[in-house]
Amino acid sequence: MTYQTLLFDVRDGVAFITINRPDKLNALNDQVVNELADAAERVATDDDIKGVLLTGAGQKAFVAGADIADLANQGPFDGKARALRGQAMLRRFETCGKPVVAAINGYALGGGCELAMACHLRIASETARFGQPEVKLGIAPGYGGTQRLPRIVGKGNALYLILTGEMIDAAEAHRIGLVSQVVPAGELVAKAEQTLRGILAMGPLAVRLAIEAVDQGLEMTLDEGLLLEANHFGLLAATQDMREGLTAFLEKRPARFRGR
Ligand code: COA
Repeated sequence: MTYQTLLFDVRDGVAFITINRPDKLNALNDQVVNELADAAERVATDDDIKGVLLTGAGQKAFVAGADIADLANQGPFDGKARALRGQAMLRRFETCGKPVVAAINGYALGGGCELAMACHLRIASETARFGQPEVKLGIAPGYGGTQRLPRIVGKGNALYLILTGEMIDAAEAHRIGLVSQVVPAGELVAKAEQTLRGILAMGPLAVRLAIEAVDQGLEMTLDEGLLLEANHFGLLAATQDMREGLTAFLEKRPARFRGR
């Protein structure tokens, strides 16, 4: 697929995906959602892509939400279908098996906050703003906000944001655990890339299974989650990467992981 609303550039194993509608604050219209769905599939299936850095074009917005012009025309059935399409796209990024880092460069509102939450790590610029303002429009979050936000920041903080529609700044987002780091705007992409490349230097099978255990474990009982973790631990013991990682430590040299 040729993208009209995304920039998609692979450099040294990292797919740099930029949502590119700065005149509309990178709002997610149906075309952006379809192109992101294609991009997520590409990330999941292309062996040359090892990780993803997702950001928004321009200085002002990561993504200012679902495109309100699209929402204005929807009825109950296409509303539901739109929510399911957006949710599936986000879930594909979340379960693509490779680390996805959101570099949040400005407004992350509604679907933008939901997109960021489907990424494995969120790094924000000092100018970023977050919120789930849907109730102000007479709708509720539809791209996973009611489910992922409480899992990330707890029920109380999530309900506060979802029910008030209030916007919070990057420092507050950091305080409640919505983002893991806040950096100066000019350093955002470099810092996010540095963090991502740091992860890519780890054992890729270990990273993949750790993401899976956290993702799936949150839906399990503690005992089920612990069993999943033990199974992953055992599986990794059968890999060359584990032997390489442990041997490299004992030989006091950097490990060279090969993903086997
Ligand atoms: N959907 C569609 N268009 C959007 C949009 C959205 N979610 N958010 C911003 N835009 C458009 C504006 O309509 C405007 O387009 P125009 O220049 O053709 O009129 C352009 O992006 C710039 O936005 P503007 O509102 O002029 O910028 P601002 O700096 O005054 O305000 C925001 C920025 C983010 C506070 C404001 O745009 C806003 O509240 N956006 C909607 C946020 C929202 O409710 N998101 C959840 C949707 S479910």
